[in-house]
Amino acid sequence: MTNKIKRIAISTGGGDAPGLNAVIRAVTLSGEKRGWKVYGIRDGYNGLLSPEEYEDGGIIRLTRDRVRGITHLGGTILGTSNRNHPMHYPLELPDGTIEEVDRTDEIVRTLWLHKIDALVSVGGDGSLVISGALHDKGMRLIHVPKTIDNDLDKTDVTFGFDTAVGFATEGVDRLHSTAASHGRVMVVEVMGRYAGWIALHSGVAASADVILIPEIPYDINKVAQKIKERDDMGRHFTIVVVAEGAKPAGGTTVVHAKEAGKPDERLGGIGEKVAAEIRAITEKETRVVVLGHLLRGGTPTALDRLRALRFGAAAVRGLEEGQDGVMVALEPPNVKYVPISEAIGKMKHVPIDGDTVMTARDLGITFADANTKE
Ligand code: F6P
Repeated sequence: MTNKIKRIAISTGGGDAPGLNAVIRAVTLSGEKRGWKVYGIRDGYNGLLSPEEYEDGGIIRLTRDRVRGITHLGGTILGTSNRNHPMHYPLELPDGTIEEVDRTDEIVRTLWLHKIDALVSVGGDGSLVISGALHDKGMRLIHVPKTIDNDLDKTDVTFGFDTAVGFATEGVDRLHSTAASHGRVMVVEVMGRYAGWIALHSGVAASADVILIPEIPYDINKVAQKIKERDDMGRHFTIVVVAEGAKPAGGTTVVHAKEAGKPDERLGGIGEKVAAEIRAITEKETRVVVLGHLLRGGTPTALDRLRALRFGAAAVRGLEEGQDGVMVALEPPNVKYVPISEAIGKMKHVPIDGDTVMTARDLGITFADANTKE
């Protein structure tokens, strides 16, 4: 028999995604409706690990007033962080070297000191691992999945993805006229880490000519061939959408940086690489646009707001029903709960024989597949 809940906390961790504020609002209002007190942790778990950095002590009371009018706002009113991962927390030793330490015990202890009965943790795959650890250490917890990348398995989709795809689509739409006017190749790099969902969906929606995704290793000569075919047809411009995690057959992903306290490498730079190779092979004027963090900003679409509100409300309902150590997941038409242990470490990739990839091919879009004849 689990204790009756009186106080819950929510944290938002990892890269921000449009819809986080909607989750915070839904958790706050649903919690208040049950007579619970709701608290928000600052900057992922930093508010608990370094409370001295905050005038408000790093954990704040969330009330109906505090979350009014935030559903449509991008970002997170609590702040977030994808640095200083609590399980790989960078600690500077007296000799100046950095050692990574696990501080999850401290997080659980501090939550208990604040008399928090249960935690709603909102985050992507990295945060999911932290949720698993906190739960294993005795914290009653429900995880809400978040990522613009759509790479989390066990949920059909998460909030943030629709907003990112919508913005990328508009960005590519806008490039058609300038590309056509100058007869140029435009290479558009989009986020997505090791999955090509954003590139695929925006590339198809915005009628790109070439889409390069991590799931289909590319051959740059096939990209050049497509550009030539279009030139021969009198189409002197080409739009290439490339996912940041795309790589040539036999090659590696382009890593922008690896930072201490951040287990993930930061991707970025494939757009420039692809463009340079296109220039060298085709001698065509080629420009690069990196959409980057623009995909994470701005107002969440109605679909993302709704998903986020549903996830937040479902987390609170789940806690009330006695769910623990689970992740809220979307299995259309409803949300359900899956054990965190089943969701951890499972990345959802674009199925290369799925109908969206087939649709792209039927429309004449090439993936420049290194391994097939096209
Ligand atoms: O996971 C979301 C995401 O936006 C990825 O698409 C991207 O690779 C990464 O985060 C960038 O993170 P940062 O906030 O460190 O720039």
